Amino acid sequence: MGKKFHIITYGCQMNKYDSDALRGLMESRGHRWTESVDEADIVIVNTCAVRQHAEDRALGRIEEIIGHKKRKPSLVVGIMGCVAQEHGERLFEKIPGLDFVVGTDNLDVVADIAEGKLKPGAYTSINKNFLGIDAAAHIEPGQVSAFITIMRGCDNFCSYCIVPYVRGRERSLPPERILQQVRYAVSRGVREITLLGQNVNSYRWEDVDFPALLDMVAQVEGVCRLRFVTNHPKDFTPKILDVVEKHGEKIPPAFHLPLQSGSDRILRLMNRKYTLSDYMRIIEEIYRRFPDAAITTDIIVGFPGETEKDFESTLAAMRDVGFAGVFAFKYSVRPGTAAAKLEDDVPEAEKIRRLRTAIDLGIELARQFSQKHIGKVFPALVEKKSPKNPGKLAATLPSGRTVLIDENFAEIGDIVPVKITDAKVWVLRGEVVEK
Ligand code: SAH
Ligand code: SF4
Ligand code: F3S
Repeated sequence: MGKKFHIITYGCQMNKYDSDALRGLMESRGHRWTESVDEADIVIVNTCAVRQHAEDRALGRIEEIIGHKKRKPSLVVGIMGCVAQEHGERLFEKIPGLDFVVGTDNLDVVADIAEGKLKPGAYTSINKNFLGIDAAAHIEPGQVSAFITIMRGCDNFCSYCIVPYVRGRERSLPPERILQQVRYAVSRGVREITLLGQNVNSYRWEDVDFPALLDMVAQVEGVCRLRFVTNHPKDFTPKILDVVEKHGEKIPPAFHLPLQSGSDRILRLMNRKYTLSDYMRIIEEIYRRFPDAAITTDIIVGFPGETEKDFESTLAAMRDVGFAGVFAFKYSVRPGTAAAKLEDDVPEAEKIRRLRTAIDLGIELARQFSQKHIGKVFPALVEKKSPKNPGKLAATLPSGRTVLIDENFAEIGDIVPVKITDAKVWVLRGEVVEK
């Protein structure tokens, strides 16, 4: 008899993909998904450890779910993802009532537990060499966009970051397996694929590097749009831009290129392996070839030793690039990382002030970027009915921005030319026009 299961996902798109992969695997073994925690026999929380706050949130949610056992003693509650990797078996002491802990690469164990092959209380040692499960990741009926993981782990050891410790060494998936996932997604009606990895630019399987893989995926019949995240400035090459250019509208010029800091001294302490001028050279090359390019970034404020002057350099770099979007984070010490040995010396109140300043500037730049769309026509991929705007469809522009259009002029899954008439910070309005 199949079990009813539910998965709650925190963290990055790679976690989202793993949750979908687990859902696909569980369904292929006869278990049934339920939207409701109350109805589930098994609840799995997929966790993120990138900052203390992310970790606390996920653990808080698990405790809340364990509380449901009062009502339903047979409920099985498990933890997967990066916090599971980080703390392993110690989580049983930390969280009374927790039934199992599985590593990011041992997802089939969840099905074994559901089937009684493993007892609750189970812990799986973490296999950091694993390439992920073979089952096709779950695709919702009517889903227009899908993520596909092309590599797991990370070898970069940025000094602040826990990811290489919890996700293990970088390993690329064979192209044939990636293409198989792409073909499956397309056969289920997906139009847009986003390739995922902590640093997709260092993808390599035998003689297939990232530009070659991108070119292969773009040629799969039925792939109408193709995106990829995340890039690393030290590995981003013009060859990638050649492939983007070659495929015209299919691969929009939208690049997530984390800068982290605009100060060379801080970049060195972060072990990022590029300078601000290396970064700016890439930006110039992108804008030279794609004047409408959308460049987004991640910023960390309050890294150990960050002075006001370092922070000002970050703000200046943000203005110089004119980012389309900025994800700014407050530095959070991660035990076991190289930066954890440095004194966390920026006072909390100052970190908060810098974060606020960086976020406000990011929003202002985002507004300016959105307004540049006004009056122009772009191909928009219709994703879904807008949940908040009756009569409107939400479509995605090449830049990644959402545009709202009248539902009488397009269907979900269409790519239609849209003239932009108005722009807020993240959401634009427009009208479908003749080609
Ligand atoms: N591989 C991706 C990042 C994954 S983590 C990359 O290199 O861009 C996403 C973002 O979280 C990072 O880009 C960084 O800005 C932020 N981050 C990572 N560790 C952090 C920490 N200890 N404190 C604050 N922010 C952190
Ligand atoms: Fe972390 Fe750096 Fe790897 Fe990104 S590239 S996951 S920031 S170590
Ligand atoms: Fe978080 Fe793990 Fe992703 S730490 S950001 S869920 S790789």
